[in-house]
Amino acid sequence: MAISGLEITLRPYTITDVDDFLIYAGDEKVTRFTRWNTFTSKEEALSYINNFCIPHPHCRSICIGDRSIGFLFIKPQEGDDKCRADVGYALAAECWGQGITTRAVKMAISDGFREFPDLVRLQALVEVGNKASQRVLEKIGFNKEGILRKYTFNKGAVRDMVMFGLLSSDLKP
Ligand SMILES: CC(C)(COP(=O)(O)OP(=O)(O)OC[C@H]1O[C@@H](n2cnc3c(N)ncnc32)[C@H](O)[C@@H]1OP(=O)(O)O)[C@@H](O)C(=O)NCCC(=O)NCCS
Repeated sequence: MAISGLEITLRPYTITDVDDFLIYAGDEKVTRFTRWNTFTSKEEALSYINNFCIPHPHCRSICIGDRSIGFLFIKPQEGDDKCRADVGYALAAECWGQGITTRAVKMAISDGFREFPDLVRLQALVEVGNKASQRVLEKIGFNKEGILRKYTFNKGAVRDMVMFGLLSSDLKP
């Protein structure tokens, strides 16, 4: 879907997003590098929206108009770790390659630093083979901080992960 010129917005999920959500969360091209197993039913998608997205402190639907084309979250840690938050995202494959995720994550970062005053660091862990996601983070200004070898299990194998970090002080005024 070519969407150049169309504005993207970020908003909380509602249960009416379920069919759109299933388009990307049910697509193996999208879930290959995510922690999701590929969603296979509307019920499963609805349960995830209800139990994860809606109660989440900052989970957003990336939208064109009111149509959900992607998923994004900023998850602040708690207690002594509340200075940092994890960032994650995924976009419907038909929309890839148009700069949408880069724009959406930039918007979410501004919102996140405003919304969570204790936050000074955003971080993202990306599989070594996930070059598109690494490029998104580099374009935004995240620093590639290192490779965590054999860090986590995903899709049947233990994966090396790249740690990316962005400090609030890295952002240009
Ligand atoms: C990662 C993802 C969100 C990127 O979304 P997107 O909207 O296409 O990203 P953007 O268009 O903003 O930027 C993608 C960049 O990666 C580059 N890219 C894409 N595939 C690439 C590859 N195989 N190797 C190197 N660069 C690649 C693009 O050229 C673009 O860079 P450019 O603007 O310098 O040309 C999307 O591919 C996706 O949903 N992937 C599956 C889920 C996922 O991996 N989530 C992140 C988990 S950490």
